[in-house]
Amino acid sequence: MNDVLPDEALVWQRFDDTARNVFERYGYRHLRVPLVEPTPLYVRSIGEHTDVVEREMYTFEDKLNGESLTLRPEATAGIVRAAIEHNLLHDRPLRVWTGGPMFRHERPQKGRYRQFHQLDVEALGFPGPDIDAEQIVMLARLWHALGLDGVALSINSIGDAPERRVHREALIAHFERHESALDENARRRLHANPLRILDSKYAPAQEAIAAAPRLLDHLGDASRAHFDALRALLDEARIAYTINPRLVRGLDYYNRTVFEWTTDALGAQGTVAGGGRYDGLFEELGGKPTPACGFAIGVERMILLLQAKTGEHASGLDGYVVHAGERAGAIARRVAETLRDHGAAIVVNAGGGSFKSQMKKADASGARLAIIVGDDEAAAGTVAIKQLREGGDQVAVPIVDVVARFAALNTTRDEYASL
Ligand code: HAM
Repeated sequence: MNDVLPDEALVWQRFDDTARNVFERYGYRHLRVPLVEPTPLYVRSIGEHTDVVEREMYTFEDKLNGESLTLRPEATAGIVRAAIEHNLLHDRPLRVWTGGPMFRHERPQKGRYRQFHQLDVEALGFPGPDIDAEQIVMLARLWHALGLDGVALSINSIGDAPERRVHREALIAHFERHESALDENARRRLHANPLRILDSKYAPAQEAIAAAPRLLDHLGDASRAHFDALRALLDEARIAYTINPRLVRGLDYYNRTVFEWTTDALGAQGTVAGGGRYDGLFEELGGKPTPACGFAIGVERMILLLQAKTGEHASGLDGYVVHAGERAGAIARRVAETLRDHGAAIVVNAGGGSFKSQMKKADASGARLAIIVGDDEAAAGTVAIKQLREGGDQVAVPIVDVVARFAALNTTRDEYASL
């Protein structure tokens, strides 16, 4: 579980702002669900024979009443529970998003943590492939807004329950014939969750996996039509994708459309967002039949990608005010307040120090501009504005013109501050 330190938090905040803005432009509304739910909610929705439920959940007993509770490993189950409990879909479908920490007891490594964060988006009560496509298009817009271009889309259809049952039998029969090639985990799951074997990275199993029957080849008419329509809509939106017949996802509630966005810039933990359709989950949790589709973005992985892109100097600070002398100090504080009135982020040097040492702090602050007020400037009714990052030019500016000149000199702010 990680601390998020200020340099990283700034990138994080900008990512959040950009994502929220994109989601809201597609009509998604914010909601928040608890961090803790009764354990059976996750067992029933995510599935008993999944990695998450079998060994990754933080489950504990409520000492007051003995109830088994679990820190949320994901948000979809909680959102569906809330939608049923508050009858949120009584008159129309609903687009919602949420975000925050999720908890999975995984082996930590770069891009994989035990407390991690997701932005989670759900469209509840929509049967058609139009909404699946819209969510994918919305994500493409987000990557574009963030200036990320190395993120690739894979899609698949895992059909509906009856198709999966037939496929499941065929898969079990196939892997029984190749049992000696499977690792222990896969053997144990052979009868409980054979679909997950397709996800196995175990080298000796790859040949058997490649030859396994593909659900995509045995979709019923309705699932096939849904998948074809999704593809046509992605083509129409000029979204490039790969069909990956082995994409099955790690949670059991999915049907028909599943998709993932991946990058190869993060090593093994390259999936930055994943989701799909889950038409059976409402009924599974005691609600009315309600088709739905959603996805979640792994925020830490996005932050790693964005940090690699923006470098280390993103401080969010526009100006650092350096001053010496009583009169200069008063001018410095007044100028800073005026600039803040106009939206700029300004730090005024505190604790005194020579000009030289204050300028060092100004450099280290990551601000784009230094504003310098000394005795000479105070006497002349001016301040000096110095570029800290490009070229180092310094200009004298009359105090009355500071706001306009500062804004003009500060035009090249961080790329995505303006999004
Ligand atoms: P998921 O694929 O389990 O889906 O997680 C979505 C994303 O969360 C992953 O692609 C990854 O970026 C990030 N993630 C997962 N585990 C970790 C971890 N231990 N450390 C860092 N990042 C991680 C879901 O959770 C579904 N609820 C998505 C969904 C919403 N499907 C329908 N609606």
